[in-house]
Amino acid sequence: MKHFALLAAALLALAGPALSQTVLSQTAGWGPGADDAAFSRMLASSFKGKGVATIDRLTQDETQAFCSNPVLAASPAAAAQRQRIEAANMATVKWPSDGQWLGDWKQGEALAQSGRGNTWSDKADTPNGGNCYNCHQISPTEISYGTIGPSLTQYGALRGQGEETLKAAWAKIVNAKASNACSNMPRAGHMGILGETQIKHLMALLFDPKSPVNAQPGPTK
Ligand code: HEC
Repeated sequence: MKHFALLAAALLALAGPALSQTVLSQTAGWGPGADDAAFSRMLASSFKGKGVATIDRLTQDETQAFCSNPVLAASPAAAAQRQRIEAANMATVKWPSDGQWLGDWKQGEALAQSGRGNTWSDKADTPNGGNCYNCHQISPTEISYGTIGPSLTQYGALRGQGEETLKAAWAKIVNAKASNACSNMPRAGHMGILGETQIKHLMALLFDPKSPVNAQPGPTK
């Protein structure tokens, strides 16, 4: 939310004291949250819905609104609210309808590699990718990966396939905010990015002993 403040500062530098009075009086002071309303107006007037990228994406749900104030969201005072938000997200998680957790790891790897989907040029019926490598190391054979999230290499080999472990990973992929209110990980299932079958394939990538994720680490690792 610094944008309006920066603009105001630039105008101050250009226009001197007379304008500075006007600009300052239009903003409700300085600091976090001060110009949120102005920024929201700017966002709403400049974003145009097109194709599957509809304008309602600008409407935040409770979780997003809460996490948009990161200082408050991370504060000890907000602990109870964080818990409530996590519980609300957990309550939306749909478990595998047939009790099977794992699909085909090869399809999971393709999904994890693909960052495609949900842009205005995508058709509504084109399956989305999971975009997982953008944030995670997964198969050790892939050398290009992001580090926003922890490495998932050896995921199943290290954790096993106990019911609680499988449930936690499933819930993480379906709705990452169910265990971490302001997680940086997208809510892939909750937001309709991935469906149940795709999530099973990703689970297999993480847990199937035959998946390269769980292969014996090589000497170079
Ligand atoms: C924008 C970054 C981002 C993307 C994309 C992303 N994740 Fe994550 N992921 C994270 C972060 C950050 C964490 C750790 C914080 C947390 O648990 O919320 C995490 C945690 C996890 C965990 C829990 C790790 C543990 O220690 O048990 C799993 C499993 C996981 N991600 C799987 C996936 C899969 C599968 C995908 C693709 C569908 C994916 N992630 C996409 C950022 C991301």
